[in-house]
Amino acid sequence: MADAPLRLEIEDRIAVITLDQPDRLNALDLPLRRALHDTFANLNANPDIRAIIITGGETVFAAGADIRLLADKTPAAVRGLGFADLWRPIGESPKPLIAAVCGYALGAGCELALMCDIIVADGTAQFGQPECKVGIMPGAGGSQRLIRTLGKQAASLLLMTGGNLTAERAFQLGLVSELAEAGGCLAAARKIAGRIARMPPLAIAAIKQSLAVGADLPLPAALALENREFLLLFVTQDQKEGMAAFLEKRQAEFKGI
Ligand code: COA
Repeated sequence: MADAPLRLEIEDRIAVITLDQPDRLNALDLPLRRALHDTFANLNANPDIRAIIITGGETVFAAGADIRLLADKTPAAVRGLGFADLWRPIGESPKPLIAAVCGYALGAGCELALMCDIIVADGTAQFGQPECKVGIMPGAGGSQRLIRTLGKQAASLLLMTGGNLTAERAFQLGLVSELAEAGGCLAAARKIAGRIARMPPLAIAAIKQSLAVGADLPLPAALALENREFLLLFVTQDQKEGMAAFLEKRQAEFKGI
């Protein structure tokens, strides 16, 4: 489709979603949000997919919510847009998600990156939540994920000034997992996705679940969750295969069961 708001490629069990409205800096309008929702819902249900990369291409990740869509809305009308439901398959995806960020990741674009498990960025990347400049605040997890990732002081600086973090600074603060060389962002993300795709998927899913749920539990409950996920992996064939392969000094052949 010539005017589809995003592109999807699947290769070697890795899906790459490219937001494809660069003339509008990939501002998240309703067609793009719906396409993201549907694409993630399909990929989440596909057992062959081992990792999902989301990128905006080589110049911009996404410059936030489409301000034209929101400018004259009432609270009820904004709620009626269904943003929370549209985000759900991304925020609750059981798959490993990697954001490959070049250029601006602002507002909802930054929130989209923050929903991912891993963020790769090159030196052009800039992260920010400039919502306060237009009289609002983040509404898709930005403030809550930033305080958990950066801590209160660094998060407040970003949220209350509407300023941006460079890729380098975001890496220092732990928001970016890996810095890529100029133009090498997607390649670096693919490399990480490839390494994850070779791992036993049930172990990866258990790690994701443990991090996603455990991070917001009191430590004793989080440790109990981790222990349960750990024990459950001993019913998998991949655990038997992985340990046998190690002891026999051969490459493991994981089946995802
Ligand atoms: N919503 C709607 N349209 C947007 C947009 C957004 N969040 N961000 C960028 N665009 C559009 C611009 O209106 C412009 O469209 P036009 O060519 O039809 O006028 C086009 O994308 C290019 O943006 P422009 O502002 O000309 O690019 P720039 O390089 O001068 O500035 C930014 C880039 C990111 C600094 C600037 O676009 C910006 O501040 N965007 C808004 C970011 C924001 O506040 N996000 C949170 C929204 S709640």
